[in-house]
Formats: sequence, C-alpha cells, structure tokens
Amino acid sequence: MNILLIGSGGREHALAWKMSRSPLCGRLFVAPGNPGTAVCGTNVAMDPADHAAVTAFCKQESIGLVVVGPEAPLVAGLVDDLSAAGIRAFGPRKAAAQLEGSKAFTKELCAEAGIPTAAFRRFTDAERAKAYVRETGAPIVVKADGLAAGKGVVVAASVDEAEGAIEAMLGGALGAAGAELVIEECLVGEEASFFALCDGSTAIPLGTAQDHKRAFDGDEGPNTGGMGAYSPAPVLTPDLEARVMHEIVQPTLQALKRRGTPYVGVLYAGLMVTAEGPKLIEYNVRFGDPECQVLMPRLKTDLVAAMLAACDGALEGFGVRWSEEAALTVVMATKGYPGPYAKGSEIKGVAKAEAMEDVLVFHAGTGEENGRLLAQGGRVLNVTAMGRSIAEAQAKAYAAVDAIDWPEGFCRRDIGWRAVRR
Ligand code: AMP
Ligand code: GLY
Repeated sequence: MNILLIGSGGREHALAWKMSRSPLCGRLFVAPGNPGTAVCGTNVAMDPADHAAVTAFCKQESIGLVVVGPEAPLVAGLVDDLSAAGIRAFGPRKAAAQLEGSKAFTKELCAEAGIPTAAFRRFTDAERAKAYVRETGAPIVVKADGLAAGKGVVVAASVDEAEGAIEAMLGGALGAAGAELVIEECLVGEEASFFALCDGSTAIPLGTAQDHKRAFDGDEGPNTGGMGAYSPAPVLTPDLEARVMHEIVQPTLQALKRRGTPYVGVLYAGLMVTAEGPKLIEYNVRFGDPECQVLMPRLKTDLVAAMLAACDGALEGFGVRWSEEAALTVVMATKGYPGPYAKGSEIKGVAKAEAMEDVLVFHAGTGEENGRLLAQGGRVLNVTAMGRSIAEAQAKAYAAVDAIDWPEGFCRRDIGWRAVRR
C-alpha cells in the first residue's frame, strides 16, 4: 500500500522510519518532509494546507493511507476532506481535533464527562478576568483558547504576572487564538505524556514518555517545543496508567462518540501526576514531538497495521508490543532558539553518530546543499538511543551528541534527570 505522511519535523522522521519498515508499506511519500525522511521515502514539495492538491496527489499515486503528523492540518479539516474524497486518512476529523484546537472545548468536555482536570473559568473580558485573578490569587494559569504554537500558556507566579498575560492575550498579542481565555488552577506534581490509539469506540494505550519543555539545564529558561524526552515514563506506574485509561481517555472517547464526533487517531494526554492522582493538563490530537522519537524505536508492533486498524474501527483486541528497553532523545537546536536564530550553519559528524550502536538520529529543521547538511530551523536534530535503563540510553545518546560537530548548535545536558534520580 502506498502511504503519504504529512509533516516535516523530527516526529515525522521517526514515523517515516517506523512505517518504512512495515511489510504493508509500498511507496512512502512525505510532504514536505526533511533530509531525514528522504532516506525513508520520497519527499514531495506540497503544501498540506492545500487540501485539493493533497487529494489530487493521493489519487495520482494510489495512496491507500494518509498519516497526518502535525495538529494544524487536523484542526483545519484535512482528514474530513480526504475522507469525503474516499481516501483513508489517519487522524481525527476537524470536530474531534477541537480537543487541541480549543482549550475551552476540552474543559467543557471534561466537565461534562467528569474527567479530572484543573478547575477553570472562561473569559473574553479583561476586567472580569483580572478581577477573578485578584480574587483567586497566584499561582494561577492563564491560557489562550486557540492554537498558539506553544506561546499560549502563562503559569503566573504572581497576580501581576497573570494580569499582564491577560492584557497581552486579550489585547491581541496572539491574534484570534487569544480572543478567549481559560484561567485555571495551578496543578502541582510531575508531568508526563500519555498516548492512546483510538478508533472512535475503542482506545488502547500507546506508550508513555516525559518531555523537557524548558530550554536550559535544570528546567530553566523559556518554554520550547520540547528539548528532549525519554520513554517509558516511570512516574506512570501500571496502576496509574490504568487510571488514566479509565478516568481520562475512555470517558473522552465515549463523550465524543455520544456527540456524533468520534475520535480516530493518536490521542496525547498531557498529564500532571498530583497527590490525588493523574489530572489532564491538555490534550493534543497527534503524537508528541520529541516524544514520538522515543516511542517509535521501542514499538515492536507494525505501526501501519495499528493505524489501519484504528481507521477501520478494528482496534478491539489489537495487541501492541514494546521493547523492554528504554529510549532517550536529546534535541540539538540552533543557538538562540526559542528566540531568533541564524540559519545555514553546517553540521558535521551525523554519520559518525548514526553508526554508533543503538543510536538513531532523527532530523527536524535540517536542509541539504551540495552534500552539506545545514541547520535551517530551531529544533534541528534528535539524537536518540536505546538502553537497558534510561541511564544507559542517556549515556549512549550523549556519546552520540558528542560525535556531532556543530558549533552553532546547543542542547541540554540533563535530559532524563528525573528518571535517573529515581
Ligand atoms: P500546555 O500548552 O497546555 O501544554 O501548557 C504548557 C505547560 O504549562 C505545561 O506543559 C505545563 O508545564 C504548564 N501548565 C499548563 N497548565 C497547567 C496547570 N493547570 N497547572 C500547572 N502547570 C500547567
Ligand atoms: N512535546 C510537546 C508537544 O508535542 O506538544
């Protein structure tokens, strides 16, 4: 079967790497892809926002499955348009993708289905929002309702900071995404990412991971898209995983099915493990990035078969097998990220790193010019390693990082510290 994968990040390289190993995979196309995905399949210069072009390409190349990596095309309804054209696509339709597209949507669904999450209020008026914050006190969390590329959440330590965030967001700093706010209780605990594969009625667990969102060592500095991850997440014990499925994922799936907007695809629950148990921080409607880069190397089951089962409503009884080993990935980013950074610096030594035992290097913001590998984005490489423990995977990943010669890049040196301390 020919497959089209949409996206161009490290997540998509990891997905392309895994799918290309499936006996079910015929030709694999990636749009637009990156130099890493070009090794697993064929990159196609196509804008995923142009649904008519994607549909025409699928017909021309007899695509049997489209896999949508990032959230924007899902929220924009790419799966709806492909399905209407008779093309099988993996990922939620627009209505169900609102779980990531609107924080207010998710909070209302949690309230309806009794899902544990932070207490919240919705606001469109700055004076009311500020009065609420003054009455409630800090710490408190201010969130833009819509998609804001990671800039829509302020965990405010003081009432002043919260008021500043309210003024900025409702003042238009994030455009339409900030026209409505969700203000919520600040949860205390350890964060973890939980993934489930869903076919509309049935959900099965699809692994756990822990991300590192801050730019610098010791969880300092600004928030980023994610600077490294490991899997599994030891904080999610088997007992807690069962609670997440029972108290959070399954009620969500049932509520969406009841509303006539069933959820098909990967459901990513961002969790806080609090003293009272796991609570939902947010939903994403896709794999995490960089979490996907540590899930794929551990997954033993055929990913294409699993995605087809989800698309076809056939997940009941589907078994997913995992390697006993742990995986850890270190993100190498261009100096300056997540702020402004220069493009075009040369990266050497990737082949040397890739040749090391149990190491995979997934590309994100790279480009190629006359056989030279160049940094073209913020997050550029995901240096990933497997090991019998997270500590072993960490040692192997950093040995591979040290084989890469890129003076204009940086990475955190402490990815995995929580798990190693445990
Ligand atoms: P989000 O974009 O919703 O993932 O939020 C970004 C980050 O803000 C999360 O990963 C958490 O670290 C933090 N955060 C969001 N909501 C809360 C909350 N209610 N309590 C504490 N931290 C939060
Ligand atoms: N790693 C966080 C995300 O993918 O949203």
